Amino acid sequence: MGTNAIPPPGTRRPFGGLRRALIAGALGTLVLGTLTAVTGPVAAGAASAGTASVSAAASTLGAAAAQSGRYYGTAISASRLGDSAYTTIANREFNMITAENEMKIDATEPARGQFNFTAGDRVYNWAVQNGKRVRGHTLAWHAQQPGWMEALSGSALRQAMIDHINGVMNHYKGKIYAWDVVNEAFSDSGGGRRDSNLQRTGNDWIEVAFRTARAADPAAKLCYNDYNIDNWTWAKTQGVYNMVRDFKARGVPIDCVGLQSHFNSGSPYNSNYRTTISSFAALGVDVQITELDIQGASPTTYANVTNDCLAVPRCTGITVWGVRDQDSWRSGDTPLLFSGSNKKPAYNAVLDALNAADPDPDPTPTPTPTPTPTPTPTPTPGTGECSATIATANSWSGGFQSTVTVRAGSAPVNGWTVRWTWPGGQSVSSLWNGEASVSGSTVTVRNAPYNATIAAGQSTTFGFTANGTAATPAVTCNSATAR
Ligand code: G3I
Repeated sequence: MGTNAIPPPGTRRPFGGLRRALIAGALGTLVLGTLTAVTGPVAAGAASAGTASVSAAASTLGAAAAQSGRYYGTAISASRLGDSAYTTIANREFNMITAENEMKIDATEPARGQFNFTAGDRVYNWAVQNGKRVRGHTLAWHAQQPGWMEALSGSALRQAMIDHINGVMNHYKGKIYAWDVVNEAFSDSGGGRRDSNLQRTGNDWIEVAFRTARAADPAAKLCYNDYNIDNWTWAKTQGVYNMVRDFKARGVPIDCVGLQSHFNSGSPYNSNYRTTISSFAALGVDVQITELDIQGASPTTYANVTNDCLAVPRCTGITVWGVRDQDSWRSGDTPLLFSGSNKKPAYNAVLDALNAADPDPDPTPTPTPTPTPTPTPTPTPGTGECSATIATANSWSGGFQSTVTVRAGSAPVNGWTVRWTWPGGQSVSSLWNGEASVSGSTVTVRNAPYNATIAAGQSTTFGFTANGTAATPAVTCNSATAR
């Protein structure tokens, strides 16, 4: 631990330094791992000095991280929730939860349009019932796609991606702290995009995913998440950095970057990690360490990672990718903080670093843009008729995203057609949950095969992104085209 425990001058606030000095003075030569056992004397010493009130060191990772406004999380596997040794540690130590596999595409949409949240909800419910927040992982990824999605390409795949994002985010709307909207989209070499079926739908697939996600759940932070973007000098890191910079410049909604941080001999921790974190943060996004594990679990490296996050106000939290070594996706590397029920030396290194942190880092919360819905008046449909309203969900320079609500009157509707005329040269670029045709400036949208039927008094929605200035033209609805 030694010199790595204290960040360089200029990166911390005076009070944090004072607190650290007081603790150091009170503890003298106490070694790593004993700090939490002597919290009484630390607090008493600080009080008698009469200089500043110093709270007792926290005894769990989550509580220690919370002292500086951060979280400390773990990945949870639903299949282990029946293991009380596992849940005892997880519940005691962590205050942010990521489902290790249960919210991925193959788990949540095993058949097209048929969503299954059984396993995801098990993890979610365990987390919230134990007072924890949840990160969502992940919505658009080349891996862990169900077979039906792997078989798609082009506009059909693009539509499936959009539908998937809407389906999953709608289920968890308002409940997720941050979503890994797009995962691992960059190539391991060269700084460009990874070839994948999603990439082959067009280079704009990532920004479409983020715009769709913002409209689906404006309360969630939206993250880009990847591995091997920890070393500032690597081309992949620079590629992702340039994309985030471009997104911020063009108003593509992105709130955070997830550094997975799977460190091993081929991709080791480097001291420029702090530069990576601060450089992303300087673009105006939060940084979250999302899947941390370190081959061999060196206490020094774990402390370095912790201190690098603590040194950057917008590094808002750390998640380790599993509870115990035996739970890890690469258990042979013994990369985590627990072995069985035992705290490893790395655990103490992390806890001590968190307890030495500035208690008031004043992290600037990501201003999550709140879309300003601009609904058109709702006409009252007659019997067997439908009505439609159009609202702007999100807009940016040169484009916008809208939601159209189609509502049945006092009788059910079986098939509907919505039509509007653009007032100023707008054009639809992508549309979901409906089938569009365009004639001049007039757009006609028919129901998709799966949302033709609307019960009396109920509604369904479709959405689209469009080029041009956001507009909410008058919309007509015709229910005479049942299929
Ligand atoms: O549950 C089945 C089991 O029924 C079956 O017998 C067994 C046979 O192989 O497979 C089990 O599923 C495995 C699943 O983990 C649950 O253990 C899958 O095969 C296996 O592929 C899957 O691995 C996951 C991996 O993502 C897949 O890409 C790991 O658990 C998970 O830790 C890992 O997480 C990823 C992040 O999502 C993204 N970043 C990298 C990270 C590590 O690879």
